Amino acid sequence: MIKTTIADAINEQISKEMFSANLYLSMSAYFQSVNLAGFANWMRIQVQEETFHSMRFFDYLLARGGSPKISALAAPESKWDSPLAAFQAAYKHEQSITESINKLTDLAIKESDHATNILLQWFITEQVEEEETVNEIVEKIKLIGDFTAGIIMLDNELKTRVFTPPVIKA
Ligand code: FEO
Repeated sequence: MIKTTIADAINEQISKEMFSANLYLSMSAYFQSVNLAGFANWMRIQVQEETFHSMRFFDYLLARGGSPKISALAAPESKWDSPLAAFQAAYKHEQSITESINKLTDLAIKESDHATNILLQWFITEQVEEEETVNEIVEKIKLIGDFTAGIIMLDNELKTRVFTPPVIKA
C-alpha cells in the first residue's frame, strides 16, 4: 500500500500532466488560428504525450492500492504574441514539470519508496527529451527570424509528427 504523502504528490502530478495536455491543446488552437497547421499538429501530438504521462501515474497509483483523484484544472492561456512566444512558454512549462518530477523523486527517496523512485526514473529521462525537443524548436524559430518561407518550411516539418506510445520496459 502506498503512503498517503506519496499518493497525494502523485495525484498532484496527474493534475499537472492533465494541465499540460490542456495547455498544448490550447496552443494547438492558437496555431490553427494563425494558419500554421503543422505547428498545430505538433501540439496535438504533445497533448497525447501528456495524456500518456498522466495515465502512467494514474495506473501506477491504482497498482499500488492508491486512489486517483481527478481535480478541477485552471484554464490555460489561449493567446500568444507569436509562434516563438508560444514555444518559449512551452519550454518554460516543461522546465517547471521537470522541477516537479525532481521534487517528487526527492520525496520518494525521503520516504524510502523504491517502487515510486523506479517509476520516476523513466520520467526524469523523459523530461530531458521533453525539454530538448521543445528548446530545439525555440532555437529554430529564432534562427528563422522574419524569414516567412522558413516558418512555412518548419510548419511542413512539424506536420509530420505522429504519436508513438513510448515502449515501457518492465
Ligand atoms: Fe509530461 Fe511534457 O511533461
